[in-house]
Amino acid sequence: MRDDMCSTLLAWYDAHARVMPWRVGPSDRARGIRPDPYHVWLSEVMLQQTTVAAVDKYFRRFLARWPSVNALAAADDGDVMAEWAGLGYYARARNLLKCARVITSDFGGTFPESRDSLLNLPGIGPYTASAIAAIAFDEPATVVDGNVERVMARLHAVEAPLPAAKGKLAKLAADLPPAERPGDYAQAVMDLGATICTPRSPKCGICPWMSNCLARANGMQSELPRRAPKEKKPIRFGIAYIARRADGAWLLERRPNNGLLGGMLGWPGADWGESAIEAPPISVSWEDAGVEVRHTFTHFHLRLGLRIARVGDTAKPTTGMFIESDAFDPASLPTVMRKAYDLAAPIIAGN
Ligand code: ADE
Repeated sequence: MRDDMCSTLLAWYDAHARVMPWRVGPSDRARGIRPDPYHVWLSEVMLQQTTVAAVDKYFRRFLARWPSVNALAAADDGDVMAEWAGLGYYARARNLLKCARVITSDFGGTFPESRDSLLNLPGIGPYTASAIAAIAFDEPATVVDGNVERVMARLHAVEAPLPAAKGKLAKLAADLPPAERPGDYAQAVMDLGATICTPRSPKCGICPWMSNCLARANGMQSELPRRAPKEKKPIRFGIAYIARRADGAWLLERRPNNGLLGGMLGWPGADWGESAIEAPPISVSWEDAGVEVRHTFTHFHLRLGLRIARVGDTAKPTTGMFIESDAFDPASLPTVMRKAYDLAAPIIAGN
């Protein structure tokens, strides 16, 4: 049965594999073309942040700028953080750089091939190690993302809710990877989850696993996987100070490496908390922009008030640095700071 299921899925993948810039499709793979582990690693780390469609642009830009792991290892930290801007969870970008540097310095720029050795690298956890080992090196490692969890929950009609059911779903997934074509298989289950076994309105009528699926047999495919109710996120408050000099320069600060938005550029302001704290970075008169940024992080919602000021050429800030207008790219800001810029810039320009 297991072999039959793998063959049916691989035949489906041969016909329907999604085309992705980092992927070696099944027909090229059959001709012996192997995926570049650097491409697999980079794309898998990015895919933990957002959708395939959104990763496309980031992946192409990273590759154009840093075509190899050695090139990435030699990159300037700030440049990498700027290219990552918008993807979120910035610790991942710092770890990406750390990992590239270890691969260059300790492994001569060649990725280690086994899941176990990949796990020793900075920022590479069980998911990424399995994905690289399977996709780049054809190790029959079990790759479990949200798509795969959903497919397993339905296939075996697992009614226990996520996240508690994660371990059980991973065990079920681990029974399947075949010795032949494990890399294609890993990508096939993810594609199945993304295109057929979708969260809503799964397309059971064209699913290669329709006759194996217990949830479908019981008519409960739309109810699975169940999820425990989410905890309500608290609301935090803060103020961002957006100052611009007459010559066009903006006052920004680089956030400390550790902590939220670590290593990213942002607008000065005190730490966010239960109430907003005033902490102007220059003593000038600040105007309340009258609008607030709303942004949701993993563990809290943020309401960020905005203060804006036009300041003189000799203004000395107590924190941060002025960045000349032509050296400042709003796209290099993390999303919450970009939202603040988008609201404040027209007001400052109109002052
Ligand atoms: N989602 C994350 N990684 C993927 C991959 N390699 N193929 C398809 N979907 C994915």
